[in-house]
Amino acid sequence: MKNSNNQYPVNSVSVSKLFNAQPHFVHCLTYTLVLAFGVTLGSIITFYLQNCSFSLQLTQLSLFPMLQTQPLAPPIAKNEILKDFLKPPNVMHDMDDEELLWRASMIPKIHKYPFERVPKVAFMFLTRGPVFLAPLWEQFFNGNEGYYSVYVHSNPSHNESHPESPVFHGRRIPSKDVQWGNVNMIEAERRLLANALLDISNQRFVLLSESCIPLFNFSTIYSYLMNSTQNYVMAYDDPSNVGRGRYSSMMLPQITIMQWRKGSQWFEMDRKLALEVISDRKYFPVFHEYCKGSCYADEHYLPTFVSIKFWEGNSNRSLTWVDWSKGGPHPAKILRSEVTVEFLEKLRSMKCLYNENRSHVCFLFARKFSPSTLSRLMKIAPKVMHF
Ligand SMILES: *[C@@H]1O[C@H](CO)[C@@H](O)[C@H](O)[C@H]1NC(C)=O
Ligand SMILES: *[C@@H]1O[C@H](CO)[C@@H](O)[C@H](O)[C@H]1NC(C)=O
Ligand SMILES: *[C@@H]1O[C@H](CO)[C@@H](O)[C@H](O)[C@H]1NC(C)=O
Ligand SMILES: *[C@@H]1O[C@H](CO)[C@@H](O)[C@H](O)[C@H]1NC(C)=O
Ligand SMILES: *[C@@H]1O[C@H](CO)[C@@H](O)[C@H](O)[C@H]1NC(C)=O
Repeated sequence: MKNSNNQYPVNSVSVSKLFNAQPHFVHCLTYTLVLAFGVTLGSIITFYLQNCSFSLQLTQLSLFPMLQTQPLAPPIAKNEILKDFLKPPNVMHDMDDEELLWRASMIPKIHKYPFERVPKVAFMFLTRGPVFLAPLWEQFFNGNEGYYSVYVHSNPSHNESHPESPVFHGRRIPSKDVQWGNVNMIEAERRLLANALLDISNQRFVLLSESCIPLFNFSTIYSYLMNSTQNYVMAYDDPSNVGRGRYSSMMLPQITIMQWRKGSQWFEMDRKLALEVISDRKYFPVFHEYCKGSCYADEHYLPTFVSIKFWEGNSNRSLTWVDWSKGGPHPAKILRSEVTVEFLEKLRSMKCLYNENRSHVCFLFARKFSPSTLSRLMKIAPKVMHF
């Protein structure tokens, strides 16, 4: 109090002194003051507008304008010992499935990371042969290094006849034979999840096939997944013979017919659920034993397991669009002539619930695109999909 009281007269004296000075000097001072005021006001307005457009972009789900310009993800830990501990092993390692699942099931009990962790999306490709739409994915990933990881599980009999593109190069995990509908399909999915879990930065996990395409650019998909409060494991009760009809009472007491669910195998989930899936020692053995032949484990294991134990965080829908309208045991293949701007716009503009709110972004991916669609997709992508 005393100090400020003391200062006041000093200031008023100097101000009155100034106004008593020569008219020319007063003119100059007024000019300077007006100029300073203008510059300050200008800076404030610019700052406000920048903030405003930034938050607008975020709400439009167009994500970070800074994503493109940011440097690569910073090193994960400064400390050498932690760095060694956190470094994921080579994608091609010599752990067998039992060793791999055990190693991947490790989970820190302290949830706050004592180092900078940039969350990544693990894109897990379950394929027969090559990822024939690779050039489209290259275009999609371009410029987003540090925010994603790629894993490929392909048939061991497939040996690369043509060179792999950069994003897929060296990303093939130790793979085993997979047959359509067989329970070894689930083993392959768990193998992909376990390998991806070894990288502590992976936060969201999406299963894709070689015929899948992204419907939005990387930044939109990244922010959709990172901001999601839910998992996307499709699950519904189908009373018909291709639903409940595939249930066997041999699965009792672990699984009742009321708990039996069906759904597409193409899932998307967070790290917490991924850990639960690879650590399941109760329900998976039941499927392994009693879901054979026309039971089609890949359409029932995850929907049933997740609905019994983790239904609370599940949206019960898939993020991958597929065309079942033509009937039959397989969804329709999309041919070259069907790939048009209108078709892709239609897939991009469906309505869904997202975090319990209505959203104009429903499906992030779509299948089954045949290899012949590649060149048209590449041409249309920049215009329609913004990548
Ligand atoms: C991504 O796509 C959205 C529209 O879906 C667009 O508004 C945004 O600008 C695109 N972002 C980049 C980095 O191209
Ligand atoms: C692929 O592997 C098979 C054996 O699995 C071998 O006979 C064949 O020569 C290989 N092809 C190429 C192109 O390496
Ligand atoms: C998630 O949304 C919040 C605002 O709701 C935003 O601040 C944040 O940047 C978003 N995160 C991602 C990864 O998009
Ligand atoms: C998902 O399905 C389960 C039943 O299996 C139900 O309890 C849950 O409310 C559903 N969740 C949503 C988001 O619809
Ligand atoms: C739904 O939207 C409202 C308003 O935009 C928001 O306040 C709320 O947090 C959203 N709900 C969830 C679960 O994100």
